[in-house]
Amino acid sequence: MQPRRLLALLTIAVGASLGASAGAKELRLGLIVPATHEWTKAANAMGEELAQQSGGKYSVTAFPAGQLGNEAQMMQQLQTGALDMAFMTVAEVTNRVPDMSALFAPFLVRDTREAGVLLNGPTAQKLLERLPREIGAVGVGYGVASMRLMLNAFPTQGGGDLKGRKMRITPFPPVRDFYQLLGAASTPMPLTDVYDSLANGQVDGVDADIELVWRMKFYERGNTLVHSNHMMFPVVGLVSGRLWQQLPPQDRELIGGLARKHLNTLFGTYDTVAVEMRRNIEETQKVKVVDAGPEFFGDVLQKWEEIWLKRTPVLADLRKEAAAIR
Ligand code: BEZ
Repeated sequence: MQPRRLLALLTIAVGASLGASAGAKELRLGLIVPATHEWTKAANAMGEELAQQSGGKYSVTAFPAGQLGNEAQMMQQLQTGALDMAFMTVAEVTNRVPDMSALFAPFLVRDTREAGVLLNGPTAQKLLERLPREIGAVGVGYGVASMRLMLNAFPTQGGGDLKGRKMRITPFPPVRDFYQLLGAASTPMPLTDVYDSLANGQVDGVDADIELVWRMKFYERGNTLVHSNHMMFPVVGLVSGRLWQQLPPQDRELIGGLARKHLNTLFGTYDTVAVEMRRNIEETQKVKVVDAGPEFFGDVLQKWEEIWLKRTPVLADLRKEAAAIR
């Protein structure tokens, strides 16, 4: 190739790439979980694929560990357009869309794979469609954390042992009711305070999942890990409604599709990660591990169901869909 032609081609290529980066949009994505958490890994993987598939038009910067504020604050930022995206607990969204509480029905699904089928089913997807109107953000897809369990600083053989105990919960109505029915005093508390609070007796136990118990080392302060898998704990990918309105349709499809794809990988991830983490915890020999099914909770499950069937018709629909998955 002639030097002059080569130079012209190089000039065009550099110009094109500068153009792409000059116009590149950095999407800021907030999470409350730590940088090492599977949700953060999913956000980063999504960002890499988005940068590649958009030819550098978009990039994603994840802000884990609540660097941008708590979830209520992030929700406001999404509404004003100060934040572009979040991978947010559905627990937080239930404060504004109470019907989503039905997703936390005890023993609705047996594991995170079933959770994936249910969350991609008609009832859960209809709930997502309501978000732009009800919270001013677009729900692009669900993922999940590992199934809920308890890490207690006291010996625990059955639900009766929870009576009068102070249990750390994520504060939202379906879980608050669950522990209230068990006779426990539910204590709302950010995850970061749990380790010390277990040590100093501010709480006696924690409603959490195996990833948190392992990564945040709660097992070091526990007596019994009740491996109950009693609820799923979904996460939702949210895009600011303001940003969404400005995006061309093909970019909405790309961003929404990739967020959903990477959130959906979590359904399978926890199948293996949860087994690995339980093994890690068992190997420390710091806590007794007790497997618990619905019978552990006695009549509390029926009482919870009666309360919530009255509060939201969505629960009956979800139960029907869940029964068909098994
Ligand atoms: C919790 O509050 O227990 C929680 C928050 C984020 C991810 C998983 C669990």
